[in-house]
Amino acid sequence: MRFAVLASGNGTNLQAIIDAVKKGEIAAELALVVSNSDKAYALKRAESAGIKTLFLSPKEFTNPQSYDRQLSITLKEEKIDLIVLAGYMRLLTPYFVKAFPQKIINVHPSLLPSFKGLQGIKDAFTYGTKVTGATVHFVDEMMDHGPIILQEPVRVSEKDTLETLGTKIHEAEHKILPKAIQLFAEGRLKVKRRTVVILEKEHTNTSH
Ligand code: GAR
Repeated sequence: MRFAVLASGNGTNLQAIIDAVKKGEIAAELALVVSNSDKAYALKRAESAGIKTLFLSPKEFTNPQSYDRQLSITLKEEKIDLIVLAGYMRLLTPYFVKAFPQKIINVHPSLLPSFKGLQGIKDAFTYGTKVTGATVHFVDEMMDHGPIILQEPVRVSEKDTLETLGTKIHEAEHKILPKAIQLFAEGRLKVKRRTVVILEKEHTNTSH
C-alpha cells in the first residue's frame, strides 16, 4: 500500500507517522508529502526523512477545484491508495472527495461531532468541557463529518492550560493516527453507513 500525507503546518502528526513506518508499526510506504504552504515545517520533516515532497501553491490556481484537480492527478500518477490529512488546513472540494471514495482520512483534535472546525482544542477548553480528545475519521463532503475510525478521550483537569491540554491531545493524535493507517493497510476497516467496523485480523484481505 502506498499512501500520501497532506499537511499545512508543524507536522508533528506527520512525524509520528514517519516514526511508525520506520519502526514497522505501519506496513505501508509513505510515498509523498504534499503541502499548500511552502512554510510548513512538515515539508522539512519529510525531506529529512528522505520522502518525496510537493508544495502546491494555491496562488497558481484560479479556484479550489482546479487546485484539487491537479492534486488528484498527482496522487493518481503516484498510485496512492490512501490519503492522510494531518493538519491539512484546506477544505477539500466535493470533486476531490468523490475522486477518492473512502480513501481519505483526517485527524481532528476533539471528540467529533463536538468542536468541529479550525480550533477544536481552544473551543473545547473555552467551553469548559471535562473530556475532549482526538478523532480519526474518513473524509466525506462535509467538514469533520465522515465515519469515525478511532477516538481517544483526553480528560481536562482544572490545572490544564490551553497549552497543556494541546500537548495531551497531540499525544492522543500521535497514537491513533498511525494505528488507523495500519488498520487501513491491513484492509480491516469496513464502513457500514456511518459505522466503521474494525475487522479481526484473520478476516482481512490486504489487496490494497
Ligand atoms: C492537529 O492537531 C490536527 O488535528 C489539526 O491540526 C493539527 C496539526 O498539527 N487539524 C485540524 O484542526 C483539522 N480540522 P501538526 O501539524 O503538528 O500535525
